[in-house]
Amino acid sequence: MFWKSLAQQHTPFFVLAPMEEVTDTVFRRLIAGIGKPDVFFTEFMSVEGFMSRGREKVSYRLEHTDTEKPLIAQIWGLSPEKFYQTAKEIREMGFVGIDLNMGCPKEDVVKRGACAGLIQLPKLAGEIIQATQEGAGDLPVSVKTRIGHKSETINEWISHVLSYKPAALTIHFRTVEEMSKVPAHWDLAPKVVALRDEISPETVIIGNGDVLSRSQGEELAKTYSLDGIMIGRGIFHNPWVFAKEQVSHSMQEKLNLLLLHARTYTEYWGKRKNYHVLKRFYKIYATDFDGAAELREQLMPTNSLEEAEAIIAKFLVKNQS
Ligand SMILES: Cc1cc2nc3c(=O)[nH]c(=O)nc-3n(C[C@H](O)[C@H](O)[C@H](O)COP(=O)(O)O)c2cc1C
Repeated sequence: MFWKSLAQQHTPFFVLAPMEEVTDTVFRRLIAGIGKPDVFFTEFMSVEGFMSRGREKVSYRLEHTDTEKPLIAQIWGLSPEKFYQTAKEIREMGFVGIDLNMGCPKEDVVKRGACAGLIQLPKLAGEIIQATQEGAGDLPVSVKTRIGHKSETINEWISHVLSYKPAALTIHFRTVEEMSKVPAHWDLAPKVVALRDEISPETVIIGNGDVLSRSQGEELAKTYSLDGIMIGRGIFHNPWVFAKEQVSHSMQEKLNLLLLHARTYTEYWGKRKNYHVLKRFYKIYATDFDGAAELREQLMPTNSLEEAEAIIAKFLVKNQS
């Protein structure tokens, strides 16, 4: 019911894409505060890792607060039994759904047959969907995937996935081999929608790939009769991308956001996450104002929050007077 009622309430609804080492609980909270999407996804979490003795090495990816809701837990792996067990546990954790990653093109995972590798292992993919559906109980199970491996195989692959009646299906309109190197093939959306209408009319379809603004997403959803739009890297260009009213943001606002992110990250993760991971976010905020490039250059070699704070304080004194 979750996905269907979301699609009825918002046409289209907007989703913040799952992005490893980006969309953790801290970043999702930050985005919720400045322009909230209708749904969040966690980063993908390995069911094999979750079911092993080293669980805490992956389970931090499911950490969340009420601010980031509604939230979908995204999982990946190879063993249907582990998907079943993981889904059973996830249903007690406050998520509104479970998503299966069948789209990540990383060579090492694809070689092992996981994530986008499942496009070439449709029997296993089906077993994984079924096992997760069984473990998830009342929680809806969705799938996020691509249009094919070497070439577009929507008729075979997407029909196959739809035959398991996922509650929602996110399509990143590129093949695995295309990675993110060519523009997304949105013109293939009607093919997906027609298959949905024929095979699983209750499945909600979410389009994904290269969307940089709400208005662009609205246009695409309207053109192709899609229920939802997922935005990933668009958030790097504009952290306020989900805000209904688009206004320009001052240097001060951007730097306040940078500091809020860095402080919340450091306070929340402590020693559990490396400071250097945080630095890639600095580029998102230190952009499009006088001196932004120079500030970025100064922030890149920093080794701690305190160093970054001192540099920003000095920059503000110099640039505000
Ligand atoms: C840094 C990064 C990490 C990603 N991690 C995940 C992930 O954990 N799970 C997933 O399904 N997709 C992941 N993706 C893919 C995105 O969710 C999305 O499908 C892709 O970026 C295309 O959408 P976009 O053009 O709006 O960015 C990741 C993408 C990026 C750039």
